[in-house]
Amino acid sequence: MDSRKSTAFFLFFFFRGFFADSVPFAASSPPSSAAVKAGYWPAFGSTVSPPSDAALSLLTHVYYAFVQVDSATARVALTANDSLALPLFAAAAHDHVAPVKAILSVGGASAVASANFARIAANGSARSDFAASAVAVAREYGLDGIDIDWEYPQSPQEMSDYVALFSELRRAAAAPGRCLLLTAAVHYSATVSGTTAAYPVSYPAAEMAAELDWVNVMAYDLHGAWDATATGAHAGLFDAKSDLSASYGLATWLAAGMPAEKVVMGVPLYGRTYNLTDGDEHGIGAPSRGVGQGDAGVLTLSEVVEFNWKNRATVVHDEARVATYSFAGETWISYDDSWSATRKVEYARGLGLGGYFLWAIGYDEDWIIARAGT
Ligand SMILES: *[C@@H]1O[C@H](CO)[C@@H](O)[C@H](O)[C@H]1NC(C)=O
Ligand SMILES: *[C@@H]1O[C@H](CO)[C@@H](O)[C@H](O)[C@H]1NC(C)=O
Ligand SMILES: *[C@@H]1O[C@H](CO)[C@@H](O)[C@H](O)[C@H]1NC(C)=O
Repeated sequence: MDSRKSTAFFLFFFFRGFFADSVPFAASSPPSSAAVKAGYWPAFGSTVSPPSDAALSLLTHVYYAFVQVDSATARVALTANDSLALPLFAAAAHDHVAPVKAILSVGGASAVASANFARIAANGSARSDFAASAVAVAREYGLDGIDIDWEYPQSPQEMSDYVALFSELRRAAAAPGRCLLLTAAVHYSATVSGTTAAYPVSYPAAEMAAELDWVNVMAYDLHGAWDATATGAHAGLFDAKSDLSASYGLATWLAAGMPAEKVVMGVPLYGRTYNLTDGDEHGIGAPSRGVGQGDAGVLTLSEVVEFNWKNRATVVHDEARVATYSFAGETWISYDDSWSATRKVEYARGLGLGGYFLWAIGYDEDWIIARAGT
């Protein structure tokens, strides 16, 4: 068994066993049967095929990522590809031997998506048009919920519009018929800081909790192309020297009033690459000339595993940070493997969190998992 297969093999059992039965929950935590094991399924690109059986067997919820909004009408506007892919997506999830909930995710990281959300959320009639259309699409395709991925509301006013949008969605989703799940993908910490004038701005976590089933905390992309003069752990659990860690972000959500069972931790199935300035200096924080291979320095987990194998890379498990990285020559890669993912998930379970989600399905070559695990 080569290293790629053994990694996949481990991940299969790891994700299958997450929150399941090996370690009991504390008395105050929700029962393990309620734990969320979610994955976003990127529906873009030219090689789209429905989420595989192997992926679905690891998950409780699968997200269609993403549909967009028509800014002129404020309505969810499906592309021709969405109309073809959504029925396949819903059928794959619902017809699986252990059925998986299928959720429509709206938005994503693009500036256009954010601007559309800002405009719609600020306008009462646009909010209700948007909510009605999102619910109509979810019902038409037999989906189980709606997810809002707005990255990110940028002012106290936009944060309050954000909650108004959820209230409208909640109202539209409640009736008639089946109640839909309502979730949101959110910044790694409950306060968004940056360079815009209105920053830093805090999420109204308690008000969000009243409307949402849970939030997907994007506890990754903590370092990347924007600070690539030094290597960084992009999804490290701890960092003694800065706020850029998953544990810090999760703690801010809990402190802000999001109930632990409504906090779902993101685990990346991709790495971020750097070119080392000097191949002999290869720790976290080592000088870097910028991002390395991959689109904007991003490689899927299966590409990272392949790189490591082909280049006989050194894989390092940083115990203090709970962060994995590898290096070979001048290439340096931050990612999560089974070692770090297991520890992060144990940490999340210790906090009584609602579960985890993965970005993204397919980045771990499901066919390898299927072959190794069955
Ligand atoms: C739509 O699907 C076709 C066929 O799979 C693909 O070639 C094309 O790139 C897709 N378009 C988008 C925008 O994803
Ligand atoms: C508010 O939204 C409605 C419906 O989408 C639209 O007709 C109207 O022009 C919007 N108002 C403003 C001020 O943008
Ligand atoms: C990093 O290395 C890759 C391949 O070795 C090269 O194509 C790229 O230009 C390098 N980037 C920087 C910022 O040095």
